[in-house]
Amino acid sequence: MIRELLTQLDIPVDDNTQIAAARFRTRWQQLGGGDLAVRRVTAKDLADLQELIHSVNWQVADADINAILEHGELWVLTCNKKFISSAGWVEHGGDRAWMVLVTTHPQWRGCSAATLMMYKALKSCQNYSKRMLDASNMGENVYRRIGFKDCARVDFYEIEPSAPLPAPAQYNWQPMEKSHFPLPGSLPDDPAIKLLFERAPELCYVAKQDGRIAAWFIGREKTSHIHIGPIYAQQPDMAVDAVFFMRNLQPERKITLDVFAEETFLVENLKKLSAAFHHSHVRMYYASQPVPRAGENIRSSAGPDFG
Ligand SMILES: CC(C)(COP(=O)(O)OP(=O)(O)OC[C@H]1O[C@@H](n2cnc3c(N)ncnc32)[C@H](O)[C@@H]1OP(=O)(O)O)[C@@H](O)C(=O)NCCC(=O)NCCS
Repeated sequence: MIRELLTQLDIPVDDNTQIAAARFRTRWQQLGGGDLAVRRVTAKDLADLQELIHSVNWQVADADINAILEHGELWVLTCNKKFISSAGWVEHGGDRAWMVLVTTHPQWRGCSAATLMMYKALKSCQNYSKRMLDASNMGENVYRRIGFKDCARVDFYEIEPSAPLPAPAQYNWQPMEKSHFPLPGSLPDDPAIKLLFERAPELCYVAKQDGRIAAWFIGREKTSHIHIGPIYAQQPDMAVDAVFFMRNLQPERKITLDVFAEETFLVENLKKLSAAFHHSHVRMYYASQPVPRAGENIRSSAGPDFG
């Protein structure tokens, strides 16, 4: 069964993959066996995939999944046709792929299903020399064990609607337009920024200096709040100004943002905003090989978070 599974996965047969497959076999036997299959997810699988995503308490819009299918690949492991684990990737510009939707149904956790699916997803994007991801706490060990290295730390913050409004923005923020692409600092051919812009152009802005874009940010509509990021700013104070601007624009909404840990200027200045600006959680970025973070002057999240 181990050989068959590895053949189906079409991943190298070595000590690591064989141990992972053996761990998986034990659980599979405990759960009564069944027909295993590994296949690429298509648009027809949305309902089954959503069932798996709900089982891990995630919410991912169908539009986001379709974007992944269009700009990358998604793979799933099934047992008796039921989706039990998934992993995929999307283009992240140039020679970079970003790993996405790594999930395992709770019943199948801890038996290397995600590890095997990561090997599968990595194999299917082996033409990209840099493979990157941002990890939840649950995923960190999986990625480290496979060989991913810490690359950056991102802190998530929240600004409650009760926070007092900051001073008016100093820079002249203007709505982002299609003609502004490619945006400075964004990776060439990265589809994520464009997709996020198209989803909510009314939440995306640029600020110019000497006729050139010196700062921009993407706002994303989430279920209960607005998320700001990525923020690109040639000077740190422009990134602070971007958040002030959005806060003034959307005084009724909770706002979240994620900031690279070294962006202390941004954090210190936002803390001055009020006590209602607080830290919520941390995510680590990992890469298959040491790489600098996504772009120069990117102050906050650079990963193509479609969710
Ligand atoms: C994160 C998640 C995908 C992991 O799925 P999984 O199938 O349980 O993962 P694995 O079985 O491959 O690995 C689980 C653990 O076994 C360990 N493991 C894997 N292969 C192993 C091996 N051959 N030998 C010893 N340990 C091994 C991993 O290091 C990991 O260790 P941990 O318990 O210290 O974290 C799953 O918990 C999940 O769906 N969580 C919710 C969604 C999420 O957070 N996804 C990750 C987004 S970045």
